[in-house]
Amino acid sequence: MTTEAATAETATAVSATATGGRAAVSERAGRIPKGNLAELFLLARERGAIDLAVGTPGAPETPKPLVEEAVRALRGGVNQYELPHGGADIRRRIAESFTTPADPDTELTVTVGGTEALCVALFSLVDPGDEVVLLDPYYENFLGAVELAGARPKFVRLHEPEGPASPDWRLDPDELAAAFGPATRAIILNTPANPTGQTLSAEDLERIAALCERWDVTVISDEVYANLVFDDRPHLSVADVPSLRDRSVVVGSLSKSHAISGWRLGFLRARPELTRVFRRVHEITTNGAGAPLQLAAGLTDLFDAASLTAAKELSQARDETADILARMGLTFRLPEGGCFVLADIRGATDEDCRTFVRRVLEESSVLLAPGTPFFADEERGRNYVRVAFNRSPQILAAARARLLP
Ligand SMILES: Cc1ncc(COP(=O)(O)O)c(C=O)c1O
Repeated sequence: MTTEAATAETATAVSATATGGRAAVSERAGRIPKGNLAELFLLARERGAIDLAVGTPGAPETPKPLVEEAVRALRGGVNQYELPHGGADIRRRIAESFTTPADPDTELTVTVGGTEALCVALFSLVDPGDEVVLLDPYYENFLGAVELAGARPKFVRLHEPEGPASPDWRLDPDELAAAFGPATRAIILNTPANPTGQTLSAEDLERIAALCERWDVTVISDEVYANLVFDDRPHLSVADVPSLRDRSVVVGSLSKSHAISGWRLGFLRARPELTRVFRRVHEITTNGAGAPLQLAAGLTDLFDAASLTAAKELSQARDETADILARMGLTFRLPEGGCFVLADIRGATDEDCRTFVRRVLEESSVLLAPGTPFFADEERGRNYVRVAFNRSPQILAAARARLLP
């Protein structure tokens, strides 16, 4: 079971147990959407299934120098608090990876994964009752974090790809504009995106910038897949768009690019006034990420081309996964980045996604993720599955043999 699934399940269960007519947990916690994988996950484990549902990296391999430095740091006695906002070396290494420079001393905060970064940004920027715009489909934790901040999600539909002629999840400019108003405080972007694998274009970002300017809205841009953009495309960050730079916050992570999702290292990039507030909130939420792990990351050439072959490796895994899914009769947009394919199952079955996922698990011992939690409208989600492709060639070969006997 993923942690987020377990937590959401507990919160929902406890909120139902009223004490003297009053719920035992906050309304906010009770509103966190229930995780969808728990039961399937247990079933998959029992059957020894291949898990293509969760994003936990099976590829690339964790860089050996990182592990060696971490061991050395632990043995060398780096076991106490670091500066809450992060060690100087790791902040410098992260800053060096940006196309548009950031000051590691005043504009970067090292966080406990991108997950904490998102929560710190929301807790710092929005008040209960404010509206936060989300592009739908979305990474399920976005909705949970917005609810936990007491804010209200305002969904903007990304329209389904209409075959080869219009392969994108299309953002309608009028629908986007209609989502903004006096109550809008922030918009959460995700490029490359989970679950669609789509990146936002310069044109999309300019359009969003104009609306944010008009309504005085801050952009929270989740760019945890910045180093996993394929086919030699450059990553376009909101920090690279002059009209967005000063009203944007970037959420980043080393979890997937460096296959260290268990180390919990992420960051927040923002202008100095915001960074000062973020660092205070971050002191309250976690008071810093693991010191020896930060030190290890700070001593390693984190983002040099030779050490970071993840994008190349995952683009091959994407192509292999795409071939398997196409042969199963699924249709999808080829991801430009990230580690997921969002596939329409209607070419392969009349079943809804949960029934399909359960049948594939029973017949082939491969676990896929049902699409519903990624969509505001369950009816839309029922036609999709999400498939993680950050897996080794051996695992994908075994999945192929099971799915296409
Ligand atoms: C879009 C997105 N943001 C954030 C995260 C979580 O990142 P981290 O492991 O750094 O907390 C994920 C993990 O799947 C993700 O897909």
